[in-house]
Amino acid sequence: MAEKKLIHVTSTSDIPNTGFSFEVKNRKIALYMIKDKVYALDDRCTHMRIQMTKGFRNGDIIGCPVHGALFDIATGKVLQAPAYRDIPTFDVIVKNGEVYFDTDQIVDAPELKF
Ligand code: FES
Repeated sequence: MAEKKLIHVTSTSDIPNTGFSFEVKNRKIALYMIKDKVYALDDRCTHMRIQMTKGFRNGDIIGCPVHGALFDIATGKVLQAPAYRDIPTFDVIVKNGEVYFDTDQIVDAPELKF
């Protein structure tokens, strides 16, 4: 079994409500917290690649700052147009309040086509 290539990203206490963005393999990833659980999503709107962590949040939903598409944080599912594709999601590992990300996930992640 291949070993995971884990990187330390941040502490859960440093993830703001509107999301924490970091870059791995030239791709921006966003972390959000819902209660005590950390979720990782591509940090781009699937409409026109706008950075979602520059947008707004209402409960468990994030909104694009440009045209207002809405997405579910936990699943990446699109909830409101003009985007119609879900945002890819990723796994994270949280240990003792520290967030780790397996960089190999990026290779397997579906690339967005525009
Ligand atoms: S760029 Fe996000 S809804 Fe248009």
